[in-house]
Order: sequence, then structure tokens, then C-alpha cells
Amino acid sequence: MRLRKLVAGNWKMHGISSDLAEIEQIASAARGYPQVDVALCVPAVLIERAVRAVPEFPIGGQDVHHAERGAHTGCTSAGMLLDAGAVLTIVGHSERRDSQRESNAEVQAKAHAALQCGLNVILCIGESLAVRERGDAVETVLAQLDASIPQAPTEEAELAIAYEPIWAIGSGKTPTTDEIAEMHGAIRERLKQRYGGEGERVRILYGGSVKPSNAGEIFAVADVDGALVGGASLKAADFMPIVEAAANAG
Ligand code: 13P
Repeated sequence: MRLRKLVAGNWKMHGISSDLAEIEQIASAARGYPQVDVALCVPAVLIERAVRAVPEFPIGGQDVHHAERGAHTGCTSAGMLLDAGAVLTIVGHSERRDSQRESNAEVQAKAHAALQCGLNVILCIGESLAVRERGDAVETVLAQLDASIPQAPTEEAELAIAYEPIWAIGSGKTPTTDEIAEMHGAIRERLKQRYGGEGERVRILYGGSVKPSNAGEIFAVADVDGALVGGASLKAADFMPIVEAAANAG
């Protein structure tokens, strides 16, 4: 099944007031590609200002706590993200799984909480270089998928999966298109086993060193339904050619 492509930018810990002009530029240029879903996940404190600057454009968070409220210093609930105007959030990014020791169970709880609240979720999975070199990438990523995704899809909001090999993030390295096809195909099969027909409609994004020069060949791979873009999403000049490549890939 051919799904509409989603190209989401993950701004990570980048972005202050003076960057709102860049967000406005991206949102305005994205109107030229109505066949692609485009979104930006910005730092939590910038969400509300970004939403005010570009009210029609989807702005998201980069993480969410699984609890509705409580004694969780420094954390942000799904309700708070929604209240700030966000419509989506990333969960389980490898940088958080690593630096914040987030477990699969925690990522699953976060995804569940966000979806129940009506926030669309981009749930990240991906293997380390050691695992890739050992030849266990597919098994490892599927085990991570099994343990991280919610029990059932929800009607309230959309779940997307982002396959992000850790060694490809910010490194300029990417898997071959055959390796991406193998992984995305395996993820698709597992989603169908888990969710039945609904599993065919879950978008599977690729992330890790996506740039204007490689986006076209990545989007041409079967079961690549979009991209989660880090560094190249910070400037419209880098990000929009990636969106254009998604539009051309159909
Ligand atoms: P880069 O595109 O900078 O490699 O980052 C990918 C990523 O981590 C997106 O979540």
C-alpha cells in the first residue's frame, strides 16, 4: 500500500526566538507540497511561540512523560504539549534511550499516553553499530519494536514508526538502500502481525543523515513512508529539497 509521505524535522536542542523566522519559512514553503505531510518537532519551550507563528502548520514535541501530572520535575505531559498547541510528539529517540536510560516499557507507556490524549506519535527504534556489524540488526530492531509499540492502534491519533540506525544519526553515514528495504519490510510485516490490516497504514519513516542528496533514493525504497530529519531540518534551504524529494517520490 502506498501511503502519503511524512517528512518531520527533529530540531533536538536547537531553536530560540530568533529561529522562528526559519520555521515560518519552512511552513510557508511546505504549502507548495500539499501531497506531503510536513512537521517540525521543536524544543518544548518553543512550541507555543512556533504555533503562534505558524498556526496552520503541525508543530510537535520531542518527548513526553507517561503520567498525566504529578511530581516529575522537568517533565512535560501529553496534555501540556496539546495545551501548548502541539499535534504530535517523538518518543523513544535513541538519544533519550541512551542519555536518559529510557527502557522499551517506558517508551511504550509514553506512546500510549500521547496517543490516548490525541497526540500523533513518532516512535523511534534502531540498532547500534555493534549490532549491525554482528549481523543482528533486524532481530534487534524487531524486538525493540515489539516491546515499545502500544498494544493496539488508537482511533484518537496516528502512530508512525521511525527506523533510525544509531550509527547513521549525525554521522553522514547511511545504510544501503537494500539494508533500508530489508529493515522496513521486516517492520511492516511485524506491524501487520501485531495490528492486522491497520498495520498496513502505519507510516514507517527512515531517519539518520537524510539530506537533499540522498533523500530521493531513500524515498524510492519500498515501505519508506517518509523521513525523520535532524540536522538538515534546521534550515529551509536544506529541508525543503527533502520535502520536494518526498513529493516527487509520490
Ligand atoms: P540527523 O538527520 O542529523 O542524522 O539526525 C537524525 C535524527 O536523529 C532524527 O531524529
